[in-house]
Order: sequence, then C-alpha cells, then structure tokens
Amino acid sequence: MHESKKEPHSGIDTAAIRAAAKNLDDGSVTAGYQADRHEIIALLNGALATELVCVLRYKRHYYTATGLQNGPIKAEFLQHAQEEQAHADQLAERIVQLNGKPDFNPASLIERSHAEYDDSENIQSMIKANLIAERVAIESYRQMIEKIGETDPTTRHMLVGIMAMEEEHADDMRDLLA
Ligand SMILES: [Fe+2]
Ligand SMILES: [Fe+2]
Repeated sequence: MHESKKEPHSGIDTAAIRAAAKNLDDGSVTAGYQADRHEIIALLNGALATELVCVLRYKRHYYTATGLQNGPIKAEFLQHAQEEQAHADQLAERIVQLNGKPDFNPASLIERSHAEYDDSENIQSMIKANLIAERVAIESYRQMIEKIGETDPTTRHMLVGIMAMEEEHADDMRDLLA
C-alpha cells in the first residue's frame, strides 16, 4: 500500500510508480493492475484451449484433405493452423506474464475449448466446420474484450489483434464455401 500523491501537473502518481519498483517476484504485475488477475487468467486459458483445438482441427484437415484441385484449400488450412498456433503461444506467454499457469492438459482440452474439433471426410464439410469454429472464436474474443474493458490494456490489445485475425479466417472460409 502506498500513499497516493499525484504530481500537480502531469497527473502521474509517482508513489505508485515507486511502489512498482518493489515486489520483483510479481514480474510484470504491479500494484496498479486493475483487472482481476485470476479471472483474466481463466479467460486466457479458455482461449488457449480453443486455439489448441483449432490447431488440431486445421492440421487434421490439412493432412487428410485430398484431391488435386484442393491444393489451395489445403494451403489455407495449413496457414490457419500455423496462425492458431501463434495465437496459442501469445496466450500462453501472457498467462505467464500474469503469474498464471497455461493449461495444456490434453485430457480436458475439448471441454475447455469454445470451438469444436471436426473429423469430417469431405472438404466442404471441413470448410463449414472451420467457418463455424471461427465464428465461435470471434464471439468468444468479443465477449472477453468487452469484459476486460479498460482494466488490462495489454491483454485487451492482444485479444483485439487475435480477434481481427479470426475475422480474416472466417472470411477466408466463407470464400471457399461452394
Ligand atoms: Fe486463433
Ligand atoms: Fe482462426
């Protein structure tokens, strides 16, 4: 706890800044952190599970889709798999920054994921399953961003970036629907 003392002109709370120089075990989390850290970590772990399931679904689609004419679609599946992996990495990194534990437990992955896995055999069903999953991801990120509001700008900024890419993914899948 510190005594709040604002500089008359800048509006900067110098006591809070000095307090931030202490408690080194908290890493990037300072006393001024406005969000409920446990709640944010739980949200991020839900998103992490979702991204990991999306990686698995797109990878499966990439490896099992057949047909010479489907080369460009397969390439799109692979690219999305790689981008979902990058999102998973960003989320895990942020959880650790917030002193949380990223949950990679495969046993509970599908229950914790917002989006679903899919093992369809034909390419149009795959595209449709991906479009559904992307729309689910977009809505879940939208809700997370709304919930976070201004309480954790770094997490919010990261989620806005991820959501923008999910919107591109949804658009890509819709373009591929026959
Ligand atoms: Fe993603
Ligand atoms: Fe996506």
